[in-house]
Amino acid sequence: MAVTLAFDVYGTLIDTHGVVTRLQQLVGDKASDFSRTWRDKQLEYSFRRGLMQNYENFAVCTSNALDYTCSYHRAPLTEGQKEDLLGVYRVLPAFDDVADGLAQLEASDYRLYAFSNGSADAVEALLSAAGVRDSFIGVVSTDDLRSFKPNPAVYSHFLRQSGATGSSAWLVSSNPFDVIGAISAGMRAAWVRRSPEAIFDPWGVEPTITVESLRGLSERIAGYRPGVEA
Ligand code: 2OP
Repeated sequence: MAVTLAFDVYGTLIDTHGVVTRLQQLVGDKASDFSRTWRDKQLEYSFRRGLMQNYENFAVCTSNALDYTCSYHRAPLTEGQKEDLLGVYRVLPAFDDVADGLAQLEASDYRLYAFSNGSADAVEALLSAAGVRDSFIGVVSTDDLRSFKPNPAVYSHFLRQSGATGSSAWLVSSNPFDVIGAISAGMRAAWVRRSPEAIFDPWGVEPTITVESLRGLSERIAGYRPGVEA
């Protein structure tokens, strides 16, 4: 059976810090820190809503996190400026290596899906704006279950939706919590470590493989032999 790949979207295909240029116009030197706080809070809110079973979709987590970040960085943006930032967030760019990496994988007959906390509509629009939507057979969203990664149920949902089995399905993600979530749910997982400064969580659960970019991922997965590479 062809190998199925579930691509995480925000932070893996799509650069969430692509909003920094616009932020520089609004908050100046604080832009990078602001962007990091925003992303960290967005994920924290998704984790907390998942645990509390108090679901609101990922766009609400993003918007609530933006409000928090404005308070935290003492950057009192107007509602119009926040709307503008959320608009930029809906059309963030893909990372530089994404188009090449996806093309190599498509040429090697992998079955490619996008798999995200983002709602299907939001992810469809985001991938289309970034020019990579056509690489994927489909989009699977955790929104279908009104939950978020790393709830094990959302990885099982991905396997059901894609018709794949755990050992023939890989998550591809830059987010260590996502990699650990997928492996714990019985999938394989490639950690995309674009920066040498990225740290993997020391939980004793390791990525199946680690790559520095999506270029060459195709060969690395094809060459993977269980037990040979950590
Ligand atoms: C995604 O699911 C976790 O943000 C990440 O796209």
